[in-house]
Amino acid sequence: MARYLITSALPYINGIKHLGNLVGSQLPADLIARYLRGRGHEVLFLCATDEHGTPAELAAAKAGKPVADYCAEMHEVQAGIARGFGLSFDHFGRSSSVQNRALTQHFAGVLADNGYIQEVSEKQVYSIDDGRFLPDRYIEGTCPNCGYDKARGDQCENCTKQLDPTDLIDPRSAISGSTRLEVRETKHLYLRQSALKGQIADWIASKTDWPVLTTSIAKKWLTDGDGLQDRGITRDLNWGVPVKKGEADWPGMEGKVFYVWFDAPVEYIACAAEWAEANGKTEAEWERWWRTDKGAGDVTYLQFMGKDNVPFHTLSFPATLMGAAEPWKMVDYIKSFNYLNYDGGQFSTSQGRGIFMDQALSILPSDYWRWWLLSHAPESSDAEFTWDNFQGSVNKDLADVLGNLVSRVTKFCRAKFGEVVPEGGSYGPREQELIAELTTRLRAYEGHMQAMEVRKSANELRAIWVAGNEYLQSAAPWTVIKTDPEQAQAMVRLALNLIRLYAVISRPFIPDAAQAMMTAMGSDDWAWPEDVAAALATLPAGHAFSVPEVLFTKITDENSADWQAQFSGIRS
Ligand code: MF3
Ligand code: ZN
Repeated sequence: MARYLITSALPYINGIKHLGNLVGSQLPADLIARYLRGRGHEVLFLCATDEHGTPAELAAAKAGKPVADYCAEMHEVQAGIARGFGLSFDHFGRSSSVQNRALTQHFAGVLADNGYIQEVSEKQVYSIDDGRFLPDRYIEGTCPNCGYDKARGDQCENCTKQLDPTDLIDPRSAISGSTRLEVRETKHLYLRQSALKGQIADWIASKTDWPVLTTSIAKKWLTDGDGLQDRGITRDLNWGVPVKKGEADWPGMEGKVFYVWFDAPVEYIACAAEWAEANGKTEAEWERWWRTDKGAGDVTYLQFMGKDNVPFHTLSFPATLMGAAEPWKMVDYIKSFNYLNYDGGQFSTSQGRGIFMDQALSILPSDYWRWWLLSHAPESSDAEFTWDNFQGSVNKDLADVLGNLVSRVTKFCRAKFGEVVPEGGSYGPREQELIAELTTRLRAYEGHMQAMEVRKSANELRAIWVAGNEYLQSAAPWTVIKTDPEQAQAMVRLALNLIRLYAVISRPFIPDAAQAMMTAMGSDDWAWPEDVAAALATLPAGHAFSVPEVLFTKITDENSADWQAQFSGIRS
């Protein structure tokens, strides 16, 4: 038994995530967490909402709510949707927690002590009427490039040109509209990442087993990107972790907060502390996951994220940890994903394009989505969601193959032998052949899951379901029963045991259906089928079972067309 710490990229607080976000981080993390637990390993699976920064402030302002209230509400909304998708976090924390505040301030303090923080004086736009410095995107004006009159200080939305606030013609505050702006001198903290470049490069170079997508992005930023330039880690905002040096005030930093990308990854650690607090555990119990001097030496730490998050996890956060030079656990494996597109275009949160997590759950149970998303995970390239493809996969894999096997076997047994596992006959050559095929395939499935190859795992699982169906089709107990009822009983006994085995191995992908199958088999034995033959003898003759409700309903052409129309536009 080994120990795995698993984190998924922390979803921003400002709205409900779409299915592209889900498949790129939280869902595959859940798949692997469930699998490793199923194999008997000790797993701590953490996620949290990423609550600071201008996006949170802006979304709260748009909703007309104080930002703290907005975040508290959206956290509950996201937590509820995560439960709806069966995401089995051990804790779903908040980057605005007191634990994260203290740890973020702690890191800033030790980084300063170690000489990795530089104080820099800068000129920044100050709004006299708002009484505050304005972040770039809080300044609006006319674009010098295209004349658009609502261009933001960081970028013109109309012509996409990257801007500096001082480029804007007739600049005004986006908060109050005031034009009484002036450029003032202000101090900010910079993390001297450039001083850690060699150390980070060596560390990345040692990760020869990482997916190419992860290392290629990391190396690109290391060599020709500006990924390891010194970066400003403070902002003039009200909402965030106040800038302090450990517990002490930081002269000149009054009223400033840390940049959201500085405190967000620290929440991976703080979330463990939140988990401990929420479950009445001691500090030592979370530190054994995160401090190599306190028991985390044997932990394997896996991170899951979309490709846009890779630079922060391969360069910036490691720079924070390395600069601190304390015995924090470093990530062992970063699994990253390409993008999922939606029906000929991109999923887009800002434009409301695609299917959002709450909408998905309102039309179909989570297992349907989990199966499609995971079996089409954008691993080696971008992937695309289309309603046709979704309908085809669900109907074929889930309804025709898995659902049909369960329903046929249980109904046939109930009709011919009653709702108990029949006792006659014994497993013959056909059954031995199936056991051999299942054994080979199951070992392949385990290999792909261990390697976190999501699509390959799904393909192998599907092949395992198909093998069972083909066995049943060719064994044909409904024909055999006429000439050799004992033999038919043995076939049905095997098939009922197969349903339990499928529940166990399918659970990481489709946890609700797996539970329904296990419950129908009158069992709670989730032991992993190390030995397929033994696993297929788990439910003994005479053991009671029941016929479950239909596991998966087919998606009709009409459903599919309706949904396509419903989700063709822009979410309001
Ligand atoms: N909120 C970021 C996003 O959605 C991810 C943050 S991951 C963490 O892209 F490392 F900062 F926590
Ligand atoms: Zn423009």
